[in-house]
Amino acid sequence: MAILLPGGAGYIGSHTAIELLKKGYEIVIIDNFSNSNPKVLEAIKKITGKKFKFYEMDYMDREKLEKVFEENKIDAVINFAGYKAVGESVQKPIEYYTNNISGALVVLDTMRKYGCKKFIFSSSATVYGDPETIPLTEECRTGGTTNPYGTTKLFIEQILKDIYKSDNTWDICILRYFNPVGAHESGLIGEEPQGIPNNLMPYIVRVANGELKELSVFGNDYDTPDGTGVRDYIHVVDLAKGHIKALEKIDKEGQGLYIYNLGTGTGYSVLDMVKAFEKATGKEVAYKIAPRRPGDIATCYADPKKAKEELGWVAEKNLEDMCKDSWNYIINRNNH
Ligand code: UFG
Repeated sequence: MAILLPGGAGYIGSHTAIELLKKGYEIVIIDNFSNSNPKVLEAIKKITGKKFKFYEMDYMDREKLEKVFEENKIDAVINFAGYKAVGESVQKPIEYYTNNISGALVVLDTMRKYGCKKFIFSSSATVYGDPETIPLTEECRTGGTTNPYGTTKLFIEQILKDIYKSDNTWDICILRYFNPVGAHESGLIGEEPQGIPNNLMPYIVRVANGELKELSVFGNDYDTPDGTGVRDYIHVVDLAKGHIKALEKIDKEGQGLYIYNLGTGTGYSVLDMVKAFEKATGKEVAYKIAPRRPGDIATCYADPKKAKEELGWVAEKNLEDMCKDSWNYIINRNNH
């Protein structure tokens, strides 16, 4: 019995692979390295001392995917594959809809063919659009996404609901991630965006490291305590552990479709993040106030109660851990 991880060499996939191996699960990773590095696979082996099967392939390649199901007894799939850059998705909607939605459909159709019906999906808080209330519960209205990336998450959620409606022997868990940051404490794996980072934490660490001159704080006139955007930052290792709890849930309960927010329940502003990073690492982060970024919302954080009550999951790491571990990864990378 193995767990298949499409996109398992990526940022969240690789951290989840480690937690699965640590718990004794057998895993199979497939990845085409479109936004990840083969070195990550070695790091996973080094951290866990465990082996796993790997296929270098596009998850949309139906023939190859069928071979993976032929060669392995796949019990469940946790799908991390997909494009994830918000700005790029506005420029390349066809690529985003094709890769994310057709890719998910190829995986789901192949699973059905081989009688594998346990699926965990990486969704995002972006499906809530501009939040109707804060904190966000799973019952809050979804829709009103402002970019194709977010819309792919929304559409795939709908596809999963329709699949479950047509055949309730599926077990499906939709995980709505808030803002993952941090890295594994070993410093061997972390977030490695290509080019200039779009997200806040990778940008902050690169300013601190002297790779980028200064952070642009996108807007200081939001209706928030200090005027800058507020988000629910969650340590990627906590997030990874949420997947294990989700897997245990669908293994144990059987036949259901579940949706959970994975967040801490606490919102921090952009300036809170800059200050926390400086305090945790002793490095200075130069910044300037810049215009708002189109599509951004003022405030977004989770009500994580449902995941606590039903999965027994809570985020355990704090903001200091998130900052220290993000920085530790960069220092480690600098030294190699
Ligand atoms: N920000 C800056 N400067 C930067 C980058 C970000 O001020 O250089 C600000 C943003 O304006 C925002 C906050 O930092 O207020 C966080 O921005 P991120 O880009 O790090 O994250 P987002 O909340 O915009 O988006 C993230 C993920 C998406 C996901 C979404 C879900 O990147 O994939 O959370 O809410 F859809």
